[in-house]
Amino acid sequence: MDYTKLGRTGLDISRLCLGCMTFGVPNRGTHEWSLDEEASRPILRKAIEAGINFFDTANVYSDGTSEEIVGRALKDLAPREELVIATKVHGRMHAGPNGAGLSRKAIMQEIDASLKRLGTDYVDLYQIHRFDDHTPIEETLEALHDVVKAGKARYIGASSMYAWQFATMLHVAQANGWTQFVSMQNFVNLMYREEEREMLPLCAEKGIGVIPWSPLARGRLTRDWQDETKRSQTDHFGKYLFGGTEEADRRVVEAVANVANERGVSRAQIALAWVLAKPEVSAPIIGASKEAHLDDAIAALDIELSQDEISMLEEPYIPHAVVGFS
Ligand SMILES: NC(=O)c1ccc[n+]([C@@H]2O[C@H](COP(=O)([O-])OP(=O)(O)OC[C@H]3O[C@@H](n4cnc5c(N)ncnc54)[C@H](OP(=O)(O)O)[C@@H]3O)[C@@H](O)[C@H]2O)c1
Repeated sequence: MDYTKLGRTGLDISRLCLGCMTFGVPNRGTHEWSLDEEASRPILRKAIEAGINFFDTANVYSDGTSEEIVGRALKDLAPREELVIATKVHGRMHAGPNGAGLSRKAIMQEIDASLKRLGTDYVDLYQIHRFDDHTPIEETLEALHDVVKAGKARYIGASSMYAWQFATMLHVAQANGWTQFVSMQNFVNLMYREEEREMLPLCAEKGIGVIPWSPLARGRLTRDWQDETKRSQTDHFGKYLFGGTEEADRRVVEAVANVANERGVSRAQIALAWVLAKPEVSAPIIGASKEAHLDDAIAALDIELSQDEISMLEEPYIPHAVVGFS
């Protein structure tokens, strides 16, 4: 396994982060395709054995059961001090007032609930899952600062939002001497490249570690256009993310296949190698629903794409409507 620093921090992370949205009780929450605890364990074990030390989950994934499954597994599989555990706050956890968002009340409630489910007394990276239009930025940032000062999180990060929102948050934290965000978890892959316009240059300028989610476009970049899996059939969020650009997207999938065939490697390796080659990226957050998916992700670390290959992969792309911020 290769290791790097998360952005400008001193934190050592593996170059691959294992996305834990795959793990969770299937009939809890909105991910019918998730793997239950028994099916999740071998993948988590294999990741640890391969040297992956960075794991990303969220309070909302499968109604908290992702955190529970991941917390129990990691406790059995590796010493806590070697692990970098990331989770998130913002999504709705209960009906009624204060059940979602980034108010001080919600953040204080949700960090404690996440720690309990994960079975740990701190997380390494506590991330805001989205921007909250209904809470003052100052309230959110001071609450996150207090979470860090209370020893419940080592670092804080953010996820998909407009670059102007993130820039404003960075500025307000700095002006008040509060803990700064160190990472941006955003949607970056060969089929959705809108983050290259504003967010990636901002992160480069500020030394923010980029940890892209769905680097394989939720599996679409790994197989023929018309092929379906259990996940693709029931992945409602995935269906929302892609639409209106089918012809160009299909050509991107074909370009990945062509480059992969010429090299004699899998498409997943090529699609991931493209994300890994971006200088702003500290570690893509990969989704693995089979142990073999991890083999491909690890192999991608050794692939250096030529400029010609990158051009072939990027040529069919057309601008997409901005998605993934809500
Ligand atoms: N912050 C956010 O808003 C946000 C949003 C989404 C995700 N995330 C994070 O990002 C993580 C990864 O998301 P993701 O699962 O959508 O990532 P992804 O890597 O784009 O997609 C993973 C899917 O691709 C397919 N796949 C992976 N490796 C493969 C291989 N070698 N060969 C063939 N197919 C392969 C599998 O699909 P099948 O299962 O269909 O076979 C797998 O479930 C999540 O777990 C979560 O931690 C965050």
